[in-house]
Amino acid sequence: MKWKQQLFGMKAYQPGKPIDEVKKLFGLDEVFKLASNENPFGSSPKVQQFLQEQQTNHAIYPDGYAQSLRTSLANFYSVAENELILGNGSDDLIAIITRALLYPGVNTVMADLSFSQYWHNADIEGAEVRKVPLKEGVHDLDAMLAAIDEKTSVVWVCNPNNPTGTIVTDEDLSAFLAKVPEDVFVVLDEAYIEYVNDPSYKDTLHYFREYPNLILLRTFSKAYGLASFRVGYGIAQPEVIAKLDPVRAPFNNTVLSQQVAQIALQDQEFIESCRVANEIGKKQYVAFCERHGLNYFPSQTNFIMFEVKADSNVVFEEMMKRGFIIRSGAALGLEGYIRVTIGTEAQNAKFLQLLEDVLTEQGVFA
Ligand SMILES: Cc1ncc(COP(=O)(O)O)c(C=O)c1O
Repeated sequence: MKWKQQLFGMKAYQPGKPIDEVKKLFGLDEVFKLASNENPFGSSPKVQQFLQEQQTNHAIYPDGYAQSLRTSLANFYSVAENELILGNGSDDLIAIITRALLYPGVNTVMADLSFSQYWHNADIEGAEVRKVPLKEGVHDLDAMLAAIDEKTSVVWVCNPNNPTGTIVTDEDLSAFLAKVPEDVFVVLDEAYIEYVNDPSYKDTLHYFREYPNLILLRTFSKAYGLASFRVGYGIAQPEVIAKLDPVRAPFNNTVLSQQVAQIALQDQEFIESCRVANEIGKKQYVAFCERHGLNYFPSQTNFIMFEVKADSNVVFEEMMKRGFIIRSGAALGLEGYIRVTIGTEAQNAKFLQLLEDVLTEQGVFA
């Protein structure tokens, strides 16, 4: 068969092990997944209530234009409806952008330690991937600019960045956007924007009006706690949306997912409460790292990446045996570190107590 050459040797995305499998594997009654930056508080109680009462006819295709959710998003952000594109998660939008703009002969620029779907999709399309090393865990925007040439089609800025949780300041972002050539498409992936509290990160919405080569990506999977429903969205000028829309699958958001996202968007009180709880949780990890002299990246997200001074795969395995699924830094490109989703206060306390045991066992702590 005539497979794309680049598919040979490629592997599917490796998600963390599911909770039930870990329970069975290690004979555990309770397992916590702090691996994929989901919301430990679930989603708005209004979503839960809707789900109990809803009577959707599942025989009918969803609205392919997601009109009702689109109107809610447009009102929420004060943007036009034709300035929005909805995806089956922002993963879908990353794939759509890639399919629309990347092909053999062009290149794409991104940070070396960032969200793996950027390079995964680019590899499938046969585009050249240019990874630019982070500088102290932060996107090196000057080096990324230097990596852009006349063959560059897309540049990805993950802000805040997964897996380091760091941000580029508004000042740096603004200078960067002014210098990116007009024919290079900029993706500003803001999957964790709801968690940011650093004042140097300013509202980015106005940038899409200033730059016809920019898209903002956001999602209901993180702070909104709706990862299983798969709803992400992009905000860009109508001409960009019109180019991307034909690449989108016809019914890429289900009926239920459109409904719950719309309900969740209205409950900003829930988002605020999660933001507050996340800050408390983040402090637990920062205090642990500082007490033990472990390096950590300053996180503006609901996860934190920090040093364990031990083999990160071993720490990952040992924590899994004890009921916590996290991400090994080795799997993300930074050996000696782990990435942990900030859980509830009780989950964090338990996690850190067990991590202390593991790192003592590993000879890191006396
Ligand atoms: C930076 C970033 N972008 C996009 C995604 C994809 O999110 P979703 O497809 O659930 O919207 C993730 C998920 O982990 C992420 O971390």
